[in-house]
Amino acid sequence: MNTIQWYVDKNVEKLIRYPQIQHAANYLIRNEVVAFPTETVYGLGANAESDAAVAKIFRAKGRPSDNPLIVHIANMSQLHQLVEGRSEKVELLMNAFWPGPLTIILQKKEGAVSELVTAGLDTVAIRMPDHPVALALLAAVNLPIAAPSANRSGKPSPTNATHVLQDLDGKIAGVVDGGPTGVGVESTVIDCTADIPIILRPGGISKEAIESIIGSVDIALSTVEKTEQPLSPGMKYTHYAPAAPLYLLDGSEYWIQEKINEERRQGLKVGVLASAESASFYDADVVLDCGSHTDLSTVARQLYDRLRAFDQTEVDVIFSEVFPRQGFGVAIMNRLEKAAGYRIIQEGDCR
Ligand code: TXA
Ligand code: MG
Repeated sequence: MNTIQWYVDKNVEKLIRYPQIQHAANYLIRNEVVAFPTETVYGLGANAESDAAVAKIFRAKGRPSDNPLIVHIANMSQLHQLVEGRSEKVELLMNAFWPGPLTIILQKKEGAVSELVTAGLDTVAIRMPDHPVALALLAAVNLPIAAPSANRSGKPSPTNATHVLQDLDGKIAGVVDGGPTGVGVESTVIDCTADIPIILRPGGISKEAIESIIGSVDIALSTVEKTEQPLSPGMKYTHYAPAAPLYLLDGSEYWIQEKINEERRQGLKVGVLASAESASFYDADVVLDCGSHTDLSTVARQLYDRLRAFDQTEVDVIFSEVFPRQGFGVAIMNRLEKAAGYRIIQEGDCR
């Protein structure tokens, strides 16, 4: 399959009438899969009503079939066809954060989308992305669009069209190239089917921001080690991982440099993912600066690009610094922990 790349300037007016958007929409209507930018990461879209279309997403990504997909919509009128009645808290969340990086899990309307989308669950995850290209495409198609992140299963999510093509060139009909995404980590996923909503995946909207609107919510322990039965099927799979093994090192720069030296003495090539503050301190084979401790939104925006960049180098092992677990830092550390398979070494621990 020849993957088409449609370039779209997200700043032009009346995007929905843009020929590139119309072409991409026609492919989706014909049940082909098309990648497109959202404000978080690139998604791999398909008609959520069609088994055949949704099956193509799972095939292209190599995604396990028990991991359900998020349904993307352009406007509130699409929502009524997808979900059963919704609570006051849900209304408040939608008013406050849509369009935006918040995915809400609700009771699904029987038969509204392909069973493959929801992996047999009676709930469905819904999101209205805050990106002009995504909204124009969704409106042009006028169908609910199932879209996971547009990476091969297990790899870091794509934050530009080049990342998408690294993983999926020849496997998908096309990619709408609207430039780099903004937020850089995926949406926050919140399950609102119980009385007390529960955050299943930290992301672009913080727990604090949500609580300021609807009061206290729970947050799921997102490690396989900690939860016997994951609440969200996505929790149990390896994610976001570069090819070389990644370790999170929680300690001083001097101690991290010692760790680097140990590996290099054994002939290994070492990559380091560092904050802007420390990047120039390290002597290693590859050092990538991910942004400042004091500007975590930039770290989030650059994180996946940096993780992917190590795959273009010869490093045998990657050490990453840790970032403060506040605001965006909660989502950043969640993704880094998963990318590292929860291999975290603290200064003072023995390995
Ligand atoms: O920012 C995002 O959310 C991006 C962009 C493309 O919209 N999408 C994304 O999709 O990250 P994906 O498939 O990579 O992650 C969806 C997550 C998975 O962890 C999945 O298990 C969970 O949402 N999920 C989907 N439907 C669910 C449901 N009904 N119940 C519980 N978890 C669900
Ligand atoms: Mg994903």
